[in-house]
Amino acid sequence: MTYSRLRAATMAAVALVAAGPLVAPQVAGAAPGNPGAPRYSAGAASIGDPYFPDAGNGGYDVQHYDLDFSYDPATRFMDATATITAVATQDLDRFNLDFRGPEISSLTVNGHPHAFTRDGQELIVTPRPKLKTGQTFTVVVRYAGVPAVVTDPDGSIEGWVPTDDGAFVAGEPQGTPAWLPTNDHPTDKATFRFTAKVPEGLTAVGNGQLLSQRTSDGWTTFVWDSTEPMASYLATITIGNFVVTETTTAGGIPVYVAVDPRQVAGSASAVAQLPKMIDFFSSKFGPYPFASTGAIIDRAPNVGYALETQTKPVFSGAASVSTMAHELAHQWYGDSVSPERWSDIWLNEGFATYAQWMYTEYNGGASVTQTFNSSSNYGRAASSSFWQTVLADPGPVDMFSSIPYNRGAMTLHALRGKVGDDTFFRILREWAANNRHGHASTADFIALAEKESGQHLGAFFDVWLFQQGKPTTW
Ligand code: TRP
Ligand code: ZN
Repeated sequence: MTYSRLRAATMAAVALVAAGPLVAPQVAGAAPGNPGAPRYSAGAASIGDPYFPDAGNGGYDVQHYDLDFSYDPATRFMDATATITAVATQDLDRFNLDFRGPEISSLTVNGHPHAFTRDGQELIVTPRPKLKTGQTFTVVVRYAGVPAVVTDPDGSIEGWVPTDDGAFVAGEPQGTPAWLPTNDHPTDKATFRFTAKVPEGLTAVGNGQLLSQRTSDGWTTFVWDSTEPMASYLATITIGNFVVTETTTAGGIPVYVAVDPRQVAGSASAVAQLPKMIDFFSSKFGPYPFASTGAIIDRAPNVGYALETQTKPVFSGAASVSTMAHELAHQWYGDSVSPERWSDIWLNEGFATYAQWMYTEYNGGASVTQTFNSSSNYGRAASSSFWQTVLADPGPVDMFSSIPYNRGAMTLHALRGKVGDDTFFRILREWAANNRHGHASTADFIALAEKESGQHLGAFFDVWLFQQGKPTTW
C-alpha cells in the first residue's frame, strides 16, 4: 500500500538511481496507431533509497503477505509457501521482489508457473501473461531450506537468527527478505498473516492477533493476523520456549507477552509497566495505533538489541523498563508513522528516545530537562566527535548509533523550548494522526512544526538537523 501523493516522488527517485541492466526502466514507445495500448516495461529493481540501493522495487504496490510455513529448530529447516497479493502500478513485463531466503522450488503468478532468476537479494519475475496497470495479481513462492542471517553496515546481525530453542526474527533495516520475499521498504506497507507450524512445546509469536493455535502429531500451528498495514522491517515470527501472559490495558487493548523462562525475573518490572506505558503514551501522542500490544522477550545474546516489531517489540535479552518504554513509543513513531527514507531514521529513534525520557520523568525519575543536560546528551563537550555527524543524514553505519537517538531526542526537546508545551505536544499528536499507518519525511516534519507553531523554523532545524557541530543558539 503506497500513498498516491508520494508515488510521483518515488518514481522520480527510482528513475534517478536507475543503473545497470536490471534497473533501467525501459521507455517503451506507444504502439503506432494504437495510443491506448499497454506500454510494458520492467518495474525498477530499487525503490531509490541511497542507504540500501537494493531495497524495495518499483512497478507494484503490495496489499498482503501470507506466509504458511513449518520450522524445526533441530535442523533449522524451514518449509514455506508465501502468497503475495499486489497491484501493478505500471504495465509490467518484469518485476523484482527482495529475497535472500532458501532455495525456491516453484513460483506462480496468477496461477501460471513461471521461470525466475535470482541475483543477490533480487528475485526477478517475468510474468506471462504480462500485467496491466491497476491489475491485482498474486505471486506464490514455495521455498525450503535454512533462512539467512543478514549482517548490517554496522556489523550487527538480523534476519532469521537461530537461538538455542528456536529463532529470533527481526528485520530492521534489511533482514526480512532473509525468510520472506518482500518489497522491502517502509514506503510499501501491507497487511500480513503468518501460519507457523513448530514442534509441540514451542510457541511461534507473530505481529498482530492470534487467530488460532492447534496441536496435532507433535506439531503446533499458530495463526497470527496483522490487520493494520505494516512495513516489512517490522515483521516478526519469533519461535522459542515462552511463558505467555495475556491481559488488557486499562484502555481495553489486548496484551500478549511471551517471555523466555530465563528472562522472566530480569524483565518483570518492564512487563508489569507495559499497560501503564501504553496508556501514558496514548495520553501524550494520541490513540494507540494498533488493535493489540505486547512483547516478545527472547534470548539471542549474539543480537544484543531490541526491535520495535509491530504490536509486539522483540528483545534479545531481558527487557529493562527504559527499553520497553522506547520500543512501545516506536509503535506511534516508526511503526505507524514510518520513515520515507532510511536517512530519516531520527524520526524513529529521536522520538522513541524522547518518549523514554518522558516516561522516566513520569515514573518519578530524572526530568526531561535533566536528561537533556546530562553527560550523554547536551553535556557532551563541543569537541566530542559525537557532534560531527549530521542528524538528517547519519549514513548507514550510524543509523543505530547515539546520533539519531540522543541528538534526535535533544532536537525535540529544543523544539519544545522554542514553541512551548502546548504547541509541541500538538505537533507530536498531529504527526501521529496525519501520517497514521503511512510514512513521512524530515521535510514533512519541518512543515508541520512551522504550520502548528506559526514560526519560521528554518534556522532552528538547520542548526539541529543539517549542520555538524554542537548547537549553541537556536
Ligand atoms: N530500532 C531498534 C531500537 O531502537 C534498534 C535496532 C534495529 C538496531 N536494528 C538494529 C540496533 C541494528 C543496532 C543494529 O530499538
Ligand atoms: Zn529505537
